Amino acid sequence: MRGLWILLIFAVMSGPSVPASVQAADADPDAPELFMANPDQGSRFWDRIGPANAPVRKNSTKADVHRGVEGFAHARYCLSCHVGQDKNLHYARTDVQCKTCHISRPLAGIRNPAATMFSEHRAEKVCAECHQGATLSMAEYVIHEPVPFAASTRSAFPALFWSAWTMVILAVGVFAVFAPYVAAWAVREVRLILKPATQMPAPGPHIERFSLTERLFHTVLAICFMVLSVTGLAWMFIETGFGQFLASLFGNYQGAIWAHRWVGLVLMCVFVLHLFYILHMARRQDPGGLTGPDSLVWKWADFRAFWHHLKWLAGMAEHPAFDRWAWWQKFDYWAVWWGTLIVGVTGLVMFDPVLTSEYLPGWTLNVARWIHKIEALLAMAHIFIVHFFIESYRPRAFPLNDHVFHGAADLETLRHEHPEWIARLEADGRVDELIVEQPPRAVQAVYFLFGVAMVALGVFLLIGAAWNFSSLS
Ligand code: HEC
Ligand code: HEC
Ligand code: HEC
Repeated sequence: MRGLWILLIFAVMSGPSVPASVQAADADPDAPELFMANPDQGSRFWDRIGPANAPVRKNSTKADVHRGVEGFAHARYCLSCHVGQDKNLHYARTDVQCKTCHISRPLAGIRNPAATMFSEHRAEKVCAECHQGATLSMAEYVIHEPVPFAASTRSAFPALFWSAWTMVILAVGVFAVFAPYVAAWAVREVRLILKPATQMPAPGPHIERFSLTERLFHTVLAICFMVLSVTGLAWMFIETGFGQFLASLFGNYQGAIWAHRWVGLVLMCVFVLHLFYILHMARRQDPGGLTGPDSLVWKWADFRAFWHHLKWLAGMAEHPAFDRWAWWQKFDYWAVWWGTLIVGVTGLVMFDPVLTSEYLPGWTLNVARWIHKIEALLAMAHIFIVHFFIESYRPRAFPLNDHVFHGAADLETLRHEHPEWIARLEADGRVDELIVEQPPRAVQAVYFLFGVAMVALGVFLLIGAAWNFSSLS
């Protein structure tokens, strides 16, 4: 009977079921007075911008760090005192427990040589259990990553702070321009539609607007982009029903990660192919050459066209007479370049953390993931809002501008939207050689459905991500 009582008392004292609010009154492991400036901040460049600056616990060298800590018991739930320590990718996404990594007992401070977390043998004793071949350098990865945007991260982990903020400023900058732009554009077009005078020209012959190679590049890019968006969002939002649904399209979480990695590599290969294609085009002397009017290279005239289009939006000028490409088409093209470079390089860095950390300190993976994530969110927001607005949502394009899928575009519409191009073709007498037959109706329907499905998927992903944004990890 006495044994039973003891058991009962023990169970009550140690049970993890006690609500956290009662326990928060216990010793606070994050109290500022427990910390001091890092005594061995490195002087190498890598150390100065890395996490080596973070403050350390005064008692971090203790053999039993919980000795004397009020309310501590071995059976107690770690998170009841270490609030927020679960906000890390390992704890959230894998089935590791605090004790899987912090194994020693009694639990030693992480700067005590007996601790499993001691920097010298962390890699071998803990990380290598799951990451075969983990090195000391890889163990510099910050498991309990600080919030990159927090003021304290600026001195504790400068590289993470500055790179995350740079990416956010880039993203905010892009939308500060495009959000009002797109809104004004929508208003302008709706007003034009309401005016009965602006009749669209009657359909006439079709000419080739996109070559077969260009269409192929665009379609492969679109498919890769969508697969990467679905799997990437599944990865970021796996703790939510939305993320789990997206992952289930690829079997499960592991399937989604697998697809994300390999489709990412495929896209990188397509990008390299595109580079060769550009080199090939650069050797041409005709208007398709890099400096010619058919090329997507940004010119001074595009800034003027931007300004002119702005005036049109405000109702202060006629619509600008675009040549083959409008300024936003050139912008979108180069946005894919910079996006693919940023996301591609950081993706490659993360592809094999063990391999990467042979050349770079492990904490560059923390930085790479945030850059990758913010750029990917920016790219998705830009495609699903701005690009789809221009080519699908706005009245003149609705429900879909499918030129880029079948390549053919109505000559009279083009004369209206890209008058300089058509004028140039007519002056050179090249219109006739560009006239093409439209593909059969069934083929057109396939292109149309494909495009509309991409737009619908984009809208779904946009809403899902916005809805669950607070659970992003
Ligand atoms: C994947 C291994 C791993 C897991 C799981 C893990 N930790 Fe850690 N922990 C580390 C490493 C490595 C460090 C050293 C500093 C760093 O990388 O963040 C550390 C440092 C700490 C520190 C001291 C530094 C700080 O941030 O204050 C505390 C406290 C801590 N861990 C508590 C926990 C708790 C509580 C859990 C469970 C929610 C947990 N850890 C889960 C690996 C892990
Ligand atoms: C009663 C609250 C409480 C519980 C429960 C608790 N801790 Fe702690 N822990 C603390 C306090 C307070 C400190 C800081 C001690 C100091 O600096 O003097 C600490 C320190 C640590 C450190 C040292 C970090 C460093 O910088 O060296 C680690 C690691 C740690 N705890 C991990 C854990 C793990 C893992 C668990 C679960 C098995 C756990 N703690 C349970 C309160 C608690
Ligand atoms: C119990 C197994 C386990 C242990 C122990 C473990 N990891 Fe991991 N780690 C994983 C898994 C699983 C993932 C993939 C997480 C995901 O789904 O995103 C991962 C991912 C990573 C990544 C990639 C993160 C990214 O952003 O790309 C790094 C870096 C990493 N771990 C470092 C470490 C280090 C350093 C240690 C030792 C302190 C460690 N891991 C201990 C299982 C483990």
